[in-house]
Amino acid sequence: MPSTTTPQRRGFVAMLMGAALMLPALSWAQAPIVVKFSHVVAEKTPKGMGALKFKELAEQKLPGKVQVQVFPSSQLFGDAKELEAMLLGDVQLIAPSLSKFDRYTKKIQVFDLPFLFDDIEAVDHFQSSPAGQDLLKSMTNRGLIGLAYWHNGMKQLSTNRDQLKRPEDVKGLKFRIQASDVLEAQFRALGANPQKMAFSEVYQALQTGVVDGQENTWSNIYSQKFHEVQKTIAETNHGVIDYMVVTNAKWWNGLPADVRKGLSDAMAEATVYANKLANDINESDRKKIEDAGKAKIQKLSKDDVAAWRKAMEPVWKKFEGDIGRDLIETALKSNK
Ligand code: LMR
Repeated sequence: MPSTTTPQRRGFVAMLMGAALMLPALSWAQAPIVVKFSHVVAEKTPKGMGALKFKELAEQKLPGKVQVQVFPSSQLFGDAKELEAMLLGDVQLIAPSLSKFDRYTKKIQVFDLPFLFDDIEAVDHFQSSPAGQDLLKSMTNRGLIGLAYWHNGMKQLSTNRDQLKRPEDVKGLKFRIQASDVLEAQFRALGANPQKMAFSEVYQALQTGVVDGQENTWSNIYSQKFHEVQKTIAETNHGVIDYMVVTNAKWWNGLPADVRKGLSDAMAEATVYANKLANDINESDRKKIEDAGKAKIQKLSKDDVAAWRKAMEPVWKKFEGDIGRDLIETALKSNK
């Protein structure tokens, strides 16, 4: 049978096939990989600024290949949901405080031990050590990869009472805590009543008296206006709020190699940037709280600090088995 295909028709079919071959390239060019980065704090905080810097750097290094969308202030997920959301693939980057990982690994609880680190420099030193770096990989069996540590700062204690100087002053008071068993034990050791609560709910809980107090960094206290609904903030520096930027292992390992490299480089640079800012932001927010004159900042004597340290001491014994004595010793050596 003679063929009915004309030369024009053959040309048309060839053109269609050519176009089909180009489709993957076209769709690649048109659809950058969307990287959602969700967090719970305000933008003008160490973590908020770090996330924005990461976006800028990642999009600069991978033009047209990635689009980073940053969602601050629990807009997308609160802290109670973000880890699950990431494991489900609904978000690609989050940076929960180190206190919020205890369902995934017991070792990271080391960061919550009261009065373990003297300051953020000591925390930084420990995080950079081989033991600290190993913790970034401690949740891979749960589908999580730690990409970096980001600093916030040392925690202060606040209440709706005029008197907040000694451990006795918090007996019987209700405190909001992050979802951490160590922090729960810490407040129980003080004879107070801890209540785990999402960060986005704290202001209202303090305002309405659902809880009497909380512990947080100057930056979080100022940016969330906790100082407007608390009477006293004791400068205890009794613990730390720092972050681990984590991603979904399956998603990360499935990225094209050049994209993964670009994102890693952007993360390393954003980490240096954010960690340099953290101390300054906390210091300037402390000053703004002082200037606002709403909550009184209670300075503590050496003797007062020693009393808080002693009252919280039982927590160490309770968690030593889970965390491991070696890790605690290594962390302790980070102090000058
Ligand atoms: C908190 O829940 O108080 C903090 O972990 C919030 C944050 O991400 O700094």
